Amino acid sequence: MDKMKKIITLILIIIVFLSAVLFAMFFVDRYRMSNFNENTTADSQNDGLQTDETTDKQTEDAQTDPPEPTYVPVSEISFADTQVLLVVGQPKSVSINFLPENATNKGFELSVSDTAIATVDENGNLVGVSEGSCTVTVKSVDNPELTATVNLSSYIGVAPTYIDGILVVNKTYALPKSYAPGWDAEASSFLLAMFADAKLEGINLWVNSGYRSYIDQYIIYNDYVAKDGQAEADTYSARPGHSEHQSGLAFDLNNLTQEFGSSPEGIWLANNCHKYGFIIRYQKDKEHITGYIYEPWHIRYLGVEKATEVYESGLCLEEFLGITSSYS
Ligand code: DAL
Ligand code: ZN
Repeated sequence: MDKMKKIITLILIIIVFLSAVLFAMFFVDRYRMSNFNENTTADSQNDGLQTDETTDKQTEDAQTDPPEPTYVPVSEISFADTQVLLVVGQPKSVSINFLPENATNKGFELSVSDTAIATVDENGNLVGVSEGSCTVTVKSVDNPELTATVNLSSYIGVAPTYIDGILVVNKTYALPKSYAPGWDAEASSFLLAMFADAKLEGINLWVNSGYRSYIDQYIIYNDYVAKDGQAEADTYSARPGHSEHQSGLAFDLNNLTQEFGSSPEGIWLANNCHKYGFIIRYQKDKEHITGYIYEPWHIRYLGVEKATEVYESGLCLEEFLGITSSYS
């Protein structure tokens, strides 16, 4: 009888234990279901926006399955511009190009060859220290063996202005006093080629005036002001620093009269000079845009491609570049 009691007690204990386990399983399941429902409700209430819980879940997923690392090394580094022009005392950031474009580390360090001319400030900008030229070198942080170097020029007061790769000199944009390149070698050789071809067609072209320094222009302009007054002089002569002749890229040909424009030489020049990289700079009826009277004799070298583009557009250089020409 005692043995019977023990067996029944054991059976009861087992039943109670199993019931407790089933009970516990049931509640764990309920708890999970309610959590799941809460997440899906939050998702729909957020109209597609992620909840913290789902973001956490994704982070967990990402942690359990990390993506392959996608480090892309730099293969080439270069300056975006072919030269760096600075004004003494003014910081300037430089644009650096990297290849491939999706390189991981586009960090770079600049250094200059002469710290008496320019330095690199604490923000990584170049700053002109005194007037002169030196070189600036860029080095890739990713691969310090990759470097590039360009020329740097520092000017007092004003630096030359390039727009779309064209050196712009007019009433708005001046050249520094110290800008004294002399006759541009490339422009001069295209000029001579044009003279030779013109001659074959019986057209005689010659240089009346070419490169003029800041001081040359100062003397010329002030002579005109003394003769005609400043308002009149400003319509046909550039103030010092504002003459294209100082760039070494402009030439006055033959006779400086407006009749030259309707002479065989003037007509030939207007129709053909773009083939040699030149434009007639101050066109008829564009005085209010260029700031100067019609000068059929004044040609400006831009290179064959750009000069042809400007010629075919029928625009003067200011219209072509979308810029002004007026003294401030
Ligand atoms: N005659 C032109 C405008 C010059 O002086 O440069
Ligand atoms: Zn001229």
